[in-house]
Amino acid sequence: MKKTSLLSLCFILSIALQAQGLKDYLPAGKYIGTAVNNQYLQGGNNVNGYNDTLISDFNCIVAENAYKMAYIIPNRPADPFNLTIDDLSASQLLLVDAMIDTANNNNMKTRGHAFIWHSQAPSWLTTDAQSWTNQQIYDFAESYITVFGTYCKGRIDEWDVVNEALNDNGNGFRTGTWYDNVDDKQDFIEHCFTVAHAADPDADLFYNDYSIELYKFSQGAVGNVKNGPMLQMVNTMLDHGTPINGVGLQSHYISGSDMTDSTYITLEKTIDSLNTLGLFCNMTEMDIRICGGTTEADLDKQKDEYRRITEIFLENDNCNSMLVWGITDASSWIPGVFSGCDDPLLYDAQMQPKPAYYGVLQSLMIESGMLSGPYNFEPQVIPGKIEMEDYDYDAFYDNDSGNTGGVYREDSVDITTGNTGYVVGWTEAGEYLTYTVNVTVADTFELAFVYASDIVVGNYSEIELLIDNVALDENVMLPSTGSYSVFDTIAIDSLILEKGKHKIRLNIVSDSANIDYIEFSRADCNGVRNGSAYIDDCDVCVGGDTGLDPCIIRNPYTVMTIPGIIEAENYDEGKNGVTYYDATSGNQGGEYRTDDVDLGTTDDNGGGYVLGWIEPDEWLEYTITIEETADYTVTFRVASGLTTGNFDLSVDGETVISNLAVPNTGGWTTYDDLVFNDIPLEAGEAVIRIDVSGGYFNMNYMQFEIIDEETGIHAIYGDKLLITPNPFTDELQVEGLQINQAWKIYSIDGKLQKKGMSDRIITNDLKPGIYIFKTNDQVIKLIKTK
Ligand code: XIL
Repeated sequence: MKKTSLLSLCFILSIALQAQGLKDYLPAGKYIGTAVNNQYLQGGNNVNGYNDTLISDFNCIVAENAYKMAYIIPNRPADPFNLTIDDLSASQLLLVDAMIDTANNNNMKTRGHAFIWHSQAPSWLTTDAQSWTNQQIYDFAESYITVFGTYCKGRIDEWDVVNEALNDNGNGFRTGTWYDNVDDKQDFIEHCFTVAHAADPDADLFYNDYSIELYKFSQGAVGNVKNGPMLQMVNTMLDHGTPINGVGLQSHYISGSDMTDSTYITLEKTIDSLNTLGLFCNMTEMDIRICGGTTEADLDKQKDEYRRITEIFLENDNCNSMLVWGITDASSWIPGVFSGCDDPLLYDAQMQPKPAYYGVLQSLMIESGMLSGPYNFEPQVIPGKIEMEDYDYDAFYDNDSGNTGGVYREDSVDITTGNTGYVVGWTEAGEYLTYTVNVTVADTFELAFVYASDIVVGNYSEIELLIDNVALDENVMLPSTGSYSVFDTIAIDSLILEKGKHKIRLNIVSDSANIDYIEFSRADCNGVRNGSAYIDDCDVCVGGDTGLDPCIIRNPYTVMTIPGIIEAENYDEGKNGVTYYDATSGNQGGEYRTDDVDLGTTDDNGGGYVLGWIEPDEWLEYTITIEETADYTVTFRVASGLTTGNFDLSVDGETVISNLAVPNTGGWTTYDDLVFNDIPLEAGEAVIRIDVSGGYFNMNYMQFEIIDEETGIHAIYGDKLLITPNPFTDELQVEGLQINQAWKIYSIDGKLQKKGMSDRIITNDLKPGIYIFKTNDQVIKLIKTK
């Protein structure tokens, strides 16, 4: 592998990709819908983006339970055969309205589910109807459909008038229903349709059921189970001129066992035979449950199942709606009803789109011709190879029409074979290709272009590479390899990529190369750093022994500016070996911070914390802001009971004080100033570093001051304290002192005049003149007038 110029490329990528919903890929007149739960209708608080997803993906809505009779008319009415609107539950009608409101606000088609069903019927009805006559059952049903249908009149596009009226074993109508006492179920069902039509003449009326599209072969007899009775029932309705517009296939499938080739065939046949009758055939409650535990392979299988059903939905004109029975696996009815089965929907329990979602999307894109996003609908993966021929569907430009190489794809990009497979060739200035990629781990990546080129020696085929619309600092230069079939590798490092989806774009700046792929590999950060072996265990590193921190893990612990005090305990946040080095694990003093640096408390100036238990070879770094370019005086506040202490101070890697010996200050709690003058520092951000060569001392702080050489007056920095009045006469008031913060007042010749800790200072004993007021972190010039 050849390495060309090392580009210093640092990108933190955060631009989110624009999302489009499923509904945006639908051809006109088609609807993709979902059932919404009561929680949503009651004003659910957009759990995991539920409400947003509903609106962005779907243009058709049905209530999973809210329109069911058990809730609409939960209490026994005074006269069940002459219902009025007052017999319907007012609170339930609010949920009915809430669904319609959502639909109106978002241009959605509405389904009403369902007027007549044996299940989720009010318990008073199942009891009472047992003793009702044929006529009474007709009267009740007519009255219910009329009152509820009229309430919703003009607001529901499709009604399931009758749900699940056929027997599972294929021998006609279901028994064991609250309407069992009717003499003729066919006639009863037809009457319900007639009444529904009268209540709302503009609504399309559906018969809805499960397994009516499946042709089941049982007990050796060749035949179908519910499909035949369903066709017979609707044929009879049509013969009688009964107003039916369509049949709803509930489509509650079991992944795998239900989804055989014959299922897809019989599904299409059913849709087709209803089409011949002039009826719609919609998927009204689709879910595809996975039973016996869900593996990744199961999710992929389910994706394909959803993809195929969606394809059938799109390919058949009389199938104008496909609804899934809920948005997320978090709230599907499946696990509660089919034990051992789960994960039937398009979004997982955390509301992330599942492979199934992409299965639906894939069919939508292909059928609508609105192909977009990654080739084959799966982003290419980093770390890994980005194959040039797998550019995104909708984001490329090629100068000429047609695929000059004639292989692999059929748009205008020129693809040929070469090296390890397909390559993009005949690249010309002005062309571009785009790739949606999925970065599985945030890291620094090295990029390698694998290409062949026969341009003039000394020239380059130049490519601008953009990540999420941001171009790299330098373009990629591909020199001739001598032939369009001799492939070579050009490596570029290093590029930081965050985890997640990104867009990569290649702008061809100059002709021409055959590009096979770009390989993104994680930069290796293992190596030697500061003399010791370093293992890459961080997410983002800059690779090799570059002298830089290999891990980009550094945060200033607090804002620290100079002139001012740098508290020793406020070393940068990061980790051992990166922003500090401590030889022993754990904080031996147990104070203030919880990493390996050893911190204790002190009563010395300013109180607070001190660095202790310092051992040879330890070091600490501090990110600071230098406010002014000047020569600084630095005062290290240290204590030691030994004379072994010794350290260096460096600024941005340059040693500015070396081998500063720490004297015995008289004990571990007796602090003294170690003063060092004339350290030139430039304004701006810097990392200062203490490198310990001789151990065993404590450090409280480092104070950086600018001292005027002529007057000896320390630069004035007093923004933390307000001293009034100034100029003053006989009394000063100090605002902003910390508890136990000591102050001292010096005369201009450096003699101590006063010291104390109170915020009121009597000064009538001072002569008129200039004074310096000092605390551990503030210096303020005071003037006494008389
Ligand atoms: C289910 C709902 O999803 C559940 O919340 C409820 O407890 C029972 O009913 N066929 C239908 C739907 O027509 O109304 C059913 O909905 C699922 C089967």
